Amino acid sequence: MLVEKTMPLADIKRQIKIAPSILGGDQANFAAGLDIAVKGGADQVHLDVIDGHFAPNITFGPGTVKALRKRTDMKFDTHLMIDEPEKFVDKFLDAGSDLFCFHAEALTGERFDALYSKIHAKGKVIGLALKPSTEMAPWVEQRLDKLDTLCVMTVNPGFSGQSMIMSVMPKLEKITQMLNDKGLPIDIEIDGGVELETLEHVVRRGGNVLVAGAGVYYKPDPIKAVGILREKAKQALGTGVA
Ligand code: DX5
Ligand code: ZN
Repeated sequence: MLVEKTMPLADIKRQIKIAPSILGGDQANFAAGLDIAVKGGADQVHLDVIDGHFAPNITFGPGTVKALRKRTDMKFDTHLMIDEPEKFVDKFLDAGSDLFCFHAEALTGERFDALYSKIHAKGKVIGLALKPSTEMAPWVEQRLDKLDTLCVMTVNPGFSGQSMIMSVMPKLEKITQMLNDKGLPIDIEIDGGVELETLEHVVRRGGNVLVAGAGVYYKPDPIKAVGILREKAKQALGTGVA
């Protein structure tokens, strides 16, 4: 199997962060999923918003995010798998999202710029996500300095519980190298199929924010699973840095 690659991370050290995705939890009780993330000491909680157009599922919207906001100050990492995100950005700002992670496939450079201005005016941050088969477009590369997070998807958007797509690894290596060369210490988020058994592949290639749906919520003790993932990732990073 793959694993060996070690990125030259000596110049930029990114902190390992665990982001439980409540889509992997009880969908009749998102509040319980959030509470597990909080009790487990997660760094941020990953909220998957899907509209049935951009990806083949329908999840939840700003009303749910607003209700969850009342329970915690934790960073709300809002992964917007939706077409025409401009239609909803005000609602998610009002709901209390902190990170707005849009899909590059759903935007253009100009549309990104307008969203960036609006979100930064409110003191919130912006990210871009790439589907497994999407390469980085020139307009994205030109705007990397505006990002808080670059989300590299390792499953096709839609559902929790899928297996990590290993063919994404060369792209992840390229992205980490590019960000390091540019001296940009932004978060590299890995979304999809992150488990104790797979995290080494992505951590050794520079991924530092690990989204985990099944990796947390399908476990017998999901609260403990958060810390276990973090420890394993730190170990992988320790052995991965040349
Ligand atoms: C998929 C979502 C993911 C998903 C991750 O569309 O973006 O965040 O919930 O779940 P796991 O970790 O189970 O692959
Ligand atoms: Zn996601």
